[in-house]
Amino acid sequence: MITASIMPSSQKEATTLLEKALEKGELAEIRIDLIKDLDLSEINNKFDKKRIIVTNRKKDEGGLFEGSESERISPLIDALKIGFGFIDIESSSIDSLHNLISKRREYNSKTNIIISYHNFEETPQNLKEILLQMENQGHDIVKIVAYAKDISDNLRIKDLVSSRSSQNKKIISFLMGEKGEISRILCNSWGSYTSYAPLRGVGKTALGQIPIEDLNDVYRSGSINNTFDIYGLIGNPVKESIGYYVHNKLFSYYNMDAVYLNFLVDDLDRFMSSFKGQFKGLCVTMPFKERIVPFLNKIDTMAQKIGAINTIKKNNEGLFGTNTDWIGAVYSIEKLTSINNKKVLILGAGGAGKAIAFGIANRQGEVIISNRDEKKALELSKNLGAETVLWEDRNDVEFDILVNATKIGMTPEENNCPMEDSFFTKDLSGITVFDAVYSPLETRLLTRSREQGAKIANGLDMYIGQAMAQFELWTGIKPSSEKMEKFSKEALEMRSRHNEN
Ligand SMILES: NC(=O)c1ccc[n+]([C@@H]2O[C@H](COP(=O)([O-])OP(=O)(O)OC[C@H]3O[C@@H](n4cnc5c(N)ncnc54)[C@H](OP(=O)(O)O)[C@@H]3O)[C@@H](O)[C@H]2O)c1
Repeated sequence: MITASIMPSSQKEATTLLEKALEKGELAEIRIDLIKDLDLSEINNKFDKKRIIVTNRKKDEGGLFEGSESERISPLIDALKIGFGFIDIESSSIDSLHNLISKRREYNSKTNIIISYHNFEETPQNLKEILLQMENQGHDIVKIVAYAKDISDNLRIKDLVSSRSSQNKKIISFLMGEKGEISRILCNSWGSYTSYAPLRGVGKTALGQIPIEDLNDVYRSGSINNTFDIYGLIGNPVKESIGYYVHNKLFSYYNMDAVYLNFLVDDLDRFMSSFKGQFKGLCVTMPFKERIVPFLNKIDTMAQKIGAINTIKKNNEGLFGTNTDWIGAVYSIEKLTSINNKKVLILGAGGAGKAIAFGIANRQGEVIISNRDEKKALELSKNLGAETVLWEDRNDVEFDILVNATKIGMTPEENNCPMEDSFFTKDLSGITVFDAVYSPLETRLLTRSREQGAKIANGLDMYIGQAMAQFELWTGIKPSSEKMEKFSKEALEMRSRHNEN
């Protein structure tokens, strides 16, 4: 069950937002901290009160209510009297809790009382002790919300929730912060009574808060159960990645009981030891593409040559690592032209440059590498048996296919171009230009090359090609390229909307 949480600043806004919240969530939490003209009777008349949680949070518990304690508790007593579904009171306000419990008895109210604990600094080690101290106060549901300092904190919440819900005791628990995001997605499957989510575009969303629209439509959070397979991305940072959208949409499209999560990892050793039993497969991004190697039981030949892993699958032999970036690059270029026997100039010798160079060699292309730092170009060319040209000579090279595997031209430096103006005075018909950058979709290099007659391929095709290979490796299903394209474009649109907010 998902609760849509709102914090209106007036009665009028409350009625507007409650309508949306109850449409998207099974429950709605109304934070009344800021409402000066609150009218709970009107809310009762307009909405299903049983589906509403009333909360009036004080400042030291992360709220905005500014009056006295009796003023704070008064509307909660009204909510009890009217019979709203739930009220929420902090465990630190023990006298108020006892007052509310006696009022509930007095009014013979059926309202559920949630007793809540918040920790904005950390996920304390003594969670079970905190839970025990909150027990037996006469309330109905315990709520524990803490801050995730490390991704492994989520597993302690999982233990807490699973052990309490297995005793048929109601608990709500999840973590704040970007590293706690997975607990908001999975807490229902662990046994939490509900998770909480804001409405998209209403108020500022804090890091780790996932809009209810995404919990429902991207993660299918309400239907995840403990038999779902877990996949995800490990890296730091992870929030710009579009994989969470694309892979979850694919799992949903193919009706698979699987979910894809972003794991923001600081300590790779700790993550691999604590989460090893939890996932079926992973994508790997910076800074772990090379550091992950010692944790794997087997690596395929291409990944060994490239020296970097971007995909892991768990199988009977343990963890298998591979690299699908080269597959993605080859997929993009081969949509336009064959690579066999073609001269390919690759700009860049970083992670993408290496993967693409080995991909081109795998397809019998003739590789020429140019990199700003010449040492890296020489090292890569030695491993490949390829040619190099100095960075300043790149514009004079003759080639059939040009690949940009540098960061030049990437947002926010969209006006930059890895080739000089002189290159764009030539007739480029007969040449294919591929840019690994996918933000923006059409870089300056691609626009100018297209204007001179070149065929062009963008980095989104590379993303699609490598993600298709990942999905097939994990599930055995070769995903539809039309669906991949649709989901990837939607993901990019969504990301740019998020970045604007
Ligand atoms: N489409 C996809 O699926 C996909 C997948 C992976 C990567 N990519 C894209 O590929 C690009 C490279 O990523 P990466 O993972 O290879 O990064 P990386 O390992 O950090 O390598 C960065 C590369 O860019 C070069 N570079 C950066 N700034 C430069 C400048 N001002 N002038 C000249 N060269 C410059 C670096 O040259 P030095 O060695 O001289 O520093 C290096 O070759 C990024 O735009 C990334 O988004 C796309």
